[in-house]
Amino acid sequence: MELILLTCKLRYFKDGDEESVARNANNKNIWINLRDFFPHPYTLQDAKNWIKQTELTNPKTIFAIDVNGIAVGGIGFNIKEDVYHRSAEIGYWLGEEYWGKGVATEALIAVTNYAFDNFDIVRLYAGVYEWNKSSIRVLEKAGYNFEARLQKAITKNGKTVDEFLFAKIK
Ligand SMILES: CC(C)(COP(=O)(O)OP(=O)(O)OC[C@H]1O[C@@H](n2cnc3c(N)ncnc32)[C@H](O)[C@@H]1OP(=O)(O)O)[C@@H](O)C(=O)NCCC(=O)NCCS
Repeated sequence: MELILLTCKLRYFKDGDEESVARNANNKNIWINLRDFFPHPYTLQDAKNWIKQTELTNPKTIFAIDVNGIAVGGIGFNIKEDVYHRSAEIGYWLGEEYWGKGVATEALIAVTNYAFDNFDIVRLYAGVYEWNKSSIRVLEKAGYNFEARLQKAITKNGKTVDEFLFAKIK
């Protein structure tokens, strides 16, 4: 899978991406908006483990955001099980030096279309922490609709806050 977009390319992670992944991911401004399984600090070993994990994932639903040949972020979706098997949760992050250029929006639109076109999925959704204005904007620009405010659903960095649920339906 390779999607060539205007601002970036989406492709699988590969050996050799470790250094740029660790450098871009090692950022509290990214970690604060993600689940705690995303490490902080983010070491070279964390990047190696992550790339290995994405190589083993089947089906392949996790992609590097590649700018000028360098993996500077990630985007992926996780297909749910049981009665939720036509739903998937989507998530993404991007190195801070690339923010504000429309990269995440373009990547989200492309992966959303890719997921609907290639998998038996009818619902993609994302949970955004209440302070994350830029991700809310990215979801809106990609055509996701606000569905719910889950009160005090998140405890991150010692703060318990609301989560906004956004979804796009095929
Ligand atoms: C969220 C994230 C992926 C956005 O990436 P990006 O490439 O900068 O996003 P884009 O440039 O496509 O769009 C950002 C939008 O947010 C807007 N924005 C940025 N900061 C904002 C703020 N404080 N308040 C309101 N809007 C804001 C930008 O103006 C832009 O909207 P516009 O095009 O209407 O002007 C990136 O900031 C990131 O990796 N954050 C940490 C991880 C994260 O939050 N992941 C998502 C978890 S749900």
